[in-house]
Amino acid sequence: MIKPTQFEPSVKPLNRLGNLSIEEFLLRYWQQKHAVLSQVFPGFEPPIDANELAGLALEDEVESRLIQEATPNQWTMESGPFSDQTFATLPAENWTLLVQAVDQWNLGIWELLQQFSFIPNWRRDDVMISFAVPGGSVGPHYDHYDVFLIQAEGEREWTIGPKCDDLTERAENDQLDLLANIDAQETHLLKPGDVLYVPPGVAHWGVAKTSAMTISIGFRAPSVGEVFQDFGKELEGLLGNDTRFSDPKRTISQSPGELAQQDVDRIQQILAKHVADPKVIANWFGSFMTEPKRDELLPLVDRVDVDGAYESCLVRDAVTRVAYYQTEDEFLWFCNGEVQSLNPSCAILAERLANEAVLSLEEVSALVDDESTREWMNELLEQGHYHLYE
Ligand code: SIN
Ligand code: CO
Repeated sequence: MIKPTQFEPSVKPLNRLGNLSIEEFLLRYWQQKHAVLSQVFPGFEPPIDANELAGLALEDEVESRLIQEATPNQWTMESGPFSDQTFATLPAENWTLLVQAVDQWNLGIWELLQQFSFIPNWRRDDVMISFAVPGGSVGPHYDHYDVFLIQAEGEREWTIGPKCDDLTERAENDQLDLLANIDAQETHLLKPGDVLYVPPGVAHWGVAKTSAMTISIGFRAPSVGEVFQDFGKELEGLLGNDTRFSDPKRTISQSPGELAQQDVDRIQQILAKHVADPKVIANWFGSFMTEPKRDELLPLVDRVDVDGAYESCLVRDAVTRVAYYQTEDEFLWFCNGEVQSLNPSCAILAERLANEAVLSLEEVSALVDDESTREWMNELLEQGHYHLYE
């Protein structure tokens, strides 16, 4: 169904972002300030075209949306899958097609994502791609995540507004969370190969000036509320029903209606005790951050024909999310939300597997040098987390 672009394997992280070194970008912009990064990808050729993107939006398993501004400032949204008929009847202006997780369907996009590994893999989300006709936009908004918006094709004018939050005035729209006003502070016209970085909370609005494709490299950042909820579930499982609030050696209560400071201190100490152990936190956080967004997806190899693109190497599946955590006496491997404690020889292999999406077979065979590494490697292959290309 999907024809991958035959790419030279290029999975090395970027060493610059246009005029900025990665160090400078991380120090001055990441999570702090938007950055217009000119010509990060000079001569950029998108690995996917608008027809292929529309083809993905016809599929049941692919998440897609169509946003239209049929009346000025009135955006409407429809969710995919769409039909050929939908695309055949669209007007020449003012609509945008958005397709999620294209890195899991297109090899070139997966490779592009790997170039952003100067940020840890477990922090990355999937790659969303939009295709817009002139005038197309998704409206003024802000996101809760960091995003690199790569101008892949055509031109798009971005308006940047101030930092927003839950209290910022919203537009009246039942389907989309849009801002009532963007309060424009800057505008920038992005051309193919340029990148706009937007930190969480900053208002932005990109309007296509020509037919335009934008590739969004997004990142995950759970809300602290979600973190407490998920960690709470983990503790519930670990502690069972017997570890409870306790208050031995109470003194006589003179005011039975009062919640005394001493009691607040007691519960605070119980809570603090359980968040104070870095191993408990790492064990849970690694699993939490590697959980796939949509775990019903099958491995990449079933969906993308990588034959010919890779030779003599071991390639991580596009849906597989891995990370590791090590201390002097323990090595934890996280894979799609599961945690495993590994012995030292598996740990050496695991470290390479987590740090590199593609490894040469030469290196892999040198690392798979005893029974335990062989067994573990086979497990990963059988489960579809890694694919061997000979
Ligand atoms: C788009 O690609 O059209 C929108 C991306 C965004 O604003 O986050
Ligand atoms: Co956005």
